[in-house]
Amino acid sequence: MNTVAAVADFRTYPLISALNGVQRLADRVLAEWADGRVSPFHHAWLRDNCPCPQCVYSVTREQVFEIVDASSSLEPAAARIDSDGRLLIDWQDGHLSRFDPGWLRAHAYDDESRAERLAAKPRPFLWRSDLQLPVFDYAALMNDNDALLHWLLAVRDIGLTQVRGVPTEPGSLKAVAQRISFIRESNFGVLFNVQSKADADSNAYTAFNLPLHTDLPTRELQPGLQFLHCLVNDAEGGESIFVDGFAIAEALRREDPPSFQALCDIPVEFRNKDRHSDYRRLAPIIALDALGHVAEIRMANFLRGAFDTSVEQMPLLYRAYRRFIAMTREPRFRVMRRLNPGELWCFDNRRTLHARNAFDPATGARHFQGCYIDRDELLSRILVLQR
Ligand code: OGA
Ligand code: ZN
Ligand code: ZN
Repeated sequence: MNTVAAVADFRTYPLISALNGVQRLADRVLAEWADGRVSPFHHAWLRDNCPCPQCVYSVTREQVFEIVDASSSLEPAAARIDSDGRLLIDWQDGHLSRFDPGWLRAHAYDDESRAERLAAKPRPFLWRSDLQLPVFDYAALMNDNDALLHWLLAVRDIGLTQVRGVPTEPGSLKAVAQRISFIRESNFGVLFNVQSKADADSNAYTAFNLPLHTDLPTRELQPGLQFLHCLVNDAEGGESIFVDGFAIAEALRREDPPSFQALCDIPVEFRNKDRHSDYRRLAPIIALDALGHVAEIRMANFLRGAFDTSVEQMPLLYRAYRRFIAMTREPRFRVMRRLNPGELWCFDNRRTLHARNAFDPATGARHFQGCYIDRDELLSRILVLQR
């Protein structure tokens, strides 16, 4: 079978059910599957998705054809199933399209097929204080793509992971992060050093406790993943704390709906400024996706500007903000662990809030290195590993 002509993709599509028959209606073709499902495909949709080498450049697998160049009244002269089980359309203008049944089923848009795809989408696994922390081995994920994929799926779905056995030489984090993809640089560097510094440009670089937060809420796009790698941890205190921001937001939605709504609706400004930069972002603390699922949390009390909302809404915003922060302090949501040298955290920075207890620099040194990667890189790496 000529896969270039049948599927315009870098992956193949398993045959879920064979094509049994085709029926032609005025504006669409009905594909009848062996398992009884019937999927309508409009003529325009079929012409638009023709995978032939004239329509899709076989090197890039990107479309060169544009649907506006076909007549809006274009119809098949014939539609049938060929001897390879593919849907074959002879268009009235002489063009010929062949569709791989695996691809066609994977893209069918009848209600049942769409509902099936929606249900198969990975959903976050929400967790609380009893989370069984997913722990991965550095050597395995550096050398074995299956181990890497397992780790990345946990990052995607659980949003909090630990890796052990990492070298403690400064800079070792870079190679781990690059197993996924490009590091996202920021004004704090490619790798940032989390150490108590006299000339700190963030509360992170002091020995203070840091309340539960996401990093860089001051940016239009918060980094998707954050890494924190422990090189030295001899100081007393400084334990890491995590909560699942999605779990807290969902609990808030149930327990105090007006507060949940206020955090979805009322934008708040986050700021980070020093002598050379001034980053600001005005956005709600909770972002929902098109289906109403919690999609992102943006929170760092130490980076927040003065609230600026209407006189009517100000008390509601304070109530909601207090309630959310109070929930991040509740033991039912919190996971607390001390990170040891050679261990690192990798977590979803747009979901999992992180904190550290205050530490006492007089009792010993503490040095973590961190970096960021965008979520696009994680998702792309997962899909390529799954091909
Ligand atoms: C940070 C941070 C945690 C820690 O640098 O943003 O949250 O344990 N650090 O020092
Ligand atoms: Zn074509
Ligand atoms: Zn942080």
